[in-house]
Amino acid sequence: MDARKPARFRYAGKKPPATQPALVHLLGEGEIVNQPITGFRLDEVGDWVAVLACGHGQHVRHEPPLTFREWVLTPAGRVEKMGWTLNCVRCDRGEGATERQMGTIEKIFTERLTAERFRPEHFELLCQIHRNPAVMATLGGLRSDETTRQNLAEYIAHWDTHGFGLWLLRDRASGGLAGRAGLKWIEVGGALEIELGYTFLPDYWGRGLATEIATVSLETAFGPLGLENLVCFTLTTNLASKRVMEKVGFVFEREIVHKGEATLLYRMTGEQYILDKVTK
Ligand SMILES: CC(C)(COP(=O)(O)OP(=O)(O)OC[C@H]1O[C@@H](n2cnc3c(N)ncnc32)[C@H](O)[C@@H]1OP(=O)(O)O)[C@@H](O)C(=O)NCCC(=O)NCCS
Repeated sequence: MDARKPARFRYAGKKPPATQPALVHLLGEGEIVNQPITGFRLDEVGDWVAVLACGHGQHVRHEPPLTFREWVLTPAGRVEKMGWTLNCVRCDRGEGATERQMGTIEKIFTERLTAERFRPEHFELLCQIHRNPAVMATLGGLRSDETTRQNLAEYIAHWDTHGFGLWLLRDRASGGLAGRAGLKWIEVGGALEIELGYTFLPDYWGRGLATEIATVSLETAFGPLGLENLVCFTLTTNLASKRVMEKVGFVFEREIVHKGEATLLYRMTGEQYILDKVTK
């Protein structure tokens, strides 16, 4: 799979046609179709909003007799429209989006964290994570600064090659180092997979932060990146990580041996993610 292709068009293996007269018809004459739908959400009064690749939202109401969009009322109908394109009136008006909305995934935000693409200047911060015995106890042990230097070079190259990768995490309130997380190609269970990973310094454990970054990572993976399939894995003994995987919707696949350790392999597909989202 080539992750550099315009991934948002690869959702569930379907390629939207170059023109989509049916949806233009649903929208009305004269409207320009130009932003792919990456998801749906309900607004505060219970109307459906299509989330577009630009990050803006657009109402897709079913309001007979004026507007007929019966499809939006069912999960199957909404899933079927994923990847189709709508004209974004807010883009047309030149309205900017927030950094996260703009589709730049090099720096994203959660409620309590900033996540920024790893860069050379993050070496000392990454060393702080890799030198921490409590953190590294479940990650194969302490890493020397030399290994960290190699890891950092790999993280940077991964971003350059694939357009996504691991983020350095900071506490939004203090700016302090919180951990690292993100999406990475890896060989696991005998196959090449994209892994969702997360790691925090002990001061940040037990506050729901792994769940928070995992949730936003999934939104990024299955929204703007349009990935189809993710794995997440942890030692059989790492109950906190196992709990995080299950809380965000990963499904247990099988037990494997990874780097000599008994490991639980979980998986989530884009289709399952969207279905879970639209049926909730
Ligand atoms: C694993 C780790 C990422 C969890 O981060 P976190 O921010 O504390 O996780 P969250 O607070 O979002 O969620 C942890 C969940 O596990 C539960 N949990 C914690 N310890 C547990 C244990 N021993 N047994 C069962 N559940 C446990 C928590 O109660 C919470 O679930 P809840 O919200 O239902 O109460 C963090 O401990 C860490 O960075 N560890 C070191 C590195 C690591 O192991 N990374 C993961 C590698 S796969």
